[in-house]
Amino acid sequence: MNSFPADFNWGVATSSYQIEGAAQLDGRGASIWDTFCNTPGKVVNGENGDVACDHYHRYPEDVALMKQIGVNSYRFSLAWPRMFPNGDQQREERGFAFYDRLIDELLAAEIEPMATVYHWDLPQALEDKGGWANRDTVFRFAEYAAATVERFGDRITNWLTINEPWCVSWLGYMSGVHAPGVRNVDSALAAAHHTALAHAHASRAMKAVNPSIRTGIAVNMTNYRIAEDATEEVRELADLMDAQLNRWWLDAFTTGNYPENLVKFHGERLQKLMMPGDSEALKVETDFIGINYYSDSFLTNPDDESHPAEKYGPFPFPQREKGNPPAPYTDMGWPVTPEGLKDLLLRVKRDWPETEDIAITENGAAYDEVPDENGEVKDDRRVEYLTAHIQSVAAAIEAGAPVKSYFAWSLMDNFEWAEGYAKRFGIVHVNFDTLERTLKNSALAYREIVAKNSVSRGVVVS
Ligand code: FCB
Repeated sequence: MNSFPADFNWGVATSSYQIEGAAQLDGRGASIWDTFCNTPGKVVNGENGDVACDHYHRYPEDVALMKQIGVNSYRFSLAWPRMFPNGDQQREERGFAFYDRLIDELLAAEIEPMATVYHWDLPQALEDKGGWANRDTVFRFAEYAAATVERFGDRITNWLTINEPWCVSWLGYMSGVHAPGVRNVDSALAAAHHTALAHAHASRAMKAVNPSIRTGIAVNMTNYRIAEDATEEVRELADLMDAQLNRWWLDAFTTGNYPENLVKFHGERLQKLMMPGDSEALKVETDFIGINYYSDSFLTNPDDESHPAEKYGPFPFPQREKGNPPAPYTDMGWPVTPEGLKDLLLRVKRDWPETEDIAITENGAAYDEVPDENGEVKDDRRVEYLTAHIQSVAAAIEAGAPVKSYFAWSLMDNFEWAEGYAKRFGIVHVNFDTLERTLKNSALAYREIVAKNSVSRGVVVS
């Protein structure tokens, strides 16, 4: 029987740059995403987050939507350049005041806020000094994180330090498909190390300010699926991928070490980044693990005569093989693999047994349905996606995974990074001309799931 614990947190998630807009308002400084969007060729249709969903002004309406959907939790992110426009000590009070208003609105609606301190909008001034490839950013981040807890820690208990540090490092500094668009393996590895250090230093700094808060990190995870008769090269590649994406940050804060195969693989490149005391510093008490899960990844056997590195592209970006996993795909081209979420949750329980609290901090799908002539958004595929994944979470809980929260990505259609506005992840539709919001059928379906599983607490998902 698929059941959820009585105190389960049902939520929706967003991030600052993707929804807020008001990019030049109230003293906000530039972020790396402003710069990236203004660089021709980086974002589909040259779109940007200047207006986005205009959540900065419409947050009361958005909180009301959450209330209507019936969620009891909301995960959002704080924009660093809104509060510290230059990434230094100089504060912008109007930035702090915006989050005061938002948090108070949420609390008045009895919706518990969960804050992500960093969801990719680094102050451009820090990028000008090397960004996450610069070790100094670790300490600037810890100061900023502490300042946010000082201000909001009386009203927010659950805090995530960094969202998807794998994307920050490898998409931001190696493939360059995300801001700041750097393409350099040493910079990417430095960013991978510095984000791990930043999580640890920030967690300690945040708890020093307010010991009653709880800290976590949101990592994007997947299952790398390989064929039973996978060649040795494919197995090794899958292990490297797994270590770099799934294990790097979790191993770092639980053990103080990075996975052995990567230490070997990166060799000198990594060694030169490690300063005395780093291993001790990386290990930090972390109260919960946030997992962002969208799909499994598939590596099929290469043709006999071709080397996997040619077939897949070099580590860490082997191509996802289409055709092997069962269709269907979402608009992102990601396969729909709900059973993978259960497998992943049980793997986390097995490999990091000290974990007592797992939050699914993101899960969702891009599909492009818009309102029909009656204003109805028939996003059946998203209804199926969410239902199947929530059932998978329930099955994992029954098998013993300590999952305490689920956040659907996303509350509303928003700025999907390099993909611009064309990829719609919302359970609420946003018309980007009028900014009108419309609940999609998936929001109504989610409302039912939440109601069934929180009113009589512990009822079957259907
Ligand atoms: C994740 C990001 C989130 C959103 C989803 C679709 O990688 O954390 O902001 O873009 O993907």
